[in-house]
Amino acid sequence: HGEAVLAGKKIVVTAGPTHEPIDPVRYLANRSSGRQGYAIADALADLGADVTLVSGPTALRAPAGVTLISCETAREMEAAVMRLPPQDVAVCTAAVADWRPVSEADQKMKKKDRDDVPAPLSLVANPDILAEISAPSVHRPRLVVGFAAETENVEAYAVAKRTRKGCDWIVANDVSLAANVMGGVENQILLITPQGVEYWPRMTKEEVARRLAISIMDWFCSTSDF
Ligand code: C5P
Repeated sequence: HGEAVLAGKKIVVTAGPTHEPIDPVRYLANRSSGRQGYAIADALADLGADVTLVSGPTALRAPAGVTLISCETAREMEAAVMRLPPQDVAVCTAAVADWRPVSEADQKMKKKDRDDVPAPLSLVANPDILAEISAPSVHRPRLVVGFAAETENVEAYAVAKRTRKGCDWIVANDVSLAANVMGGVENQILLITPQGVEYWPRMTKEEVARRLAISIMDWFCSTSDF
């Protein structure tokens, strides 16, 4: 671990997908690997921050020096985040499922014959954890960073998302198939801040994480009460 420039700073990072149960053996999910969020938690811990990683199901191990809270569904992730003591910074990388089945069947849904299909799945909206964290409150983290995965019009959509969610920064990436980002090793991102838009070169998720951790450190340095 390097210099502890973020010592004493509490930072929550959400990561991974969420799993939304359909029945005891089936769920709705997405292709998020959690790799970018885990790398960010690692990079922030390396700068000395007190990092809590709230993670949906992934195949990854928690980085050293990071407190891991595992959860499965969006509602569990929301509860885990809201239960934390006040945080200085929140970085929401989790690919939270937008919708969940209205209800979870108690028993495995059975097909009666070869062509049998179940009734259409009814879905309801999940809580928007980033928007909740960003809402004005005495305990709002002073810096809230959201992520945006877009397949087109990345900059325009991300700029709009920053305002809509109420967060301070948006890290936007292009997850169109051509960019091969989701589940991959590299990432190409834009950082949207109140000051404007930075286009970062294509780099590994670890490099994105280090650079974002340094941007967060610089942000602390630019605020008077660091
Ligand atoms: O709305 P959209 O999913 O594009 O927004 C992405 C950002 O919002 C990410 O930072 C993600 O972690 C966060 N998010 C969330 N809860 C949701 C949906 C998205 O925290 N239910």
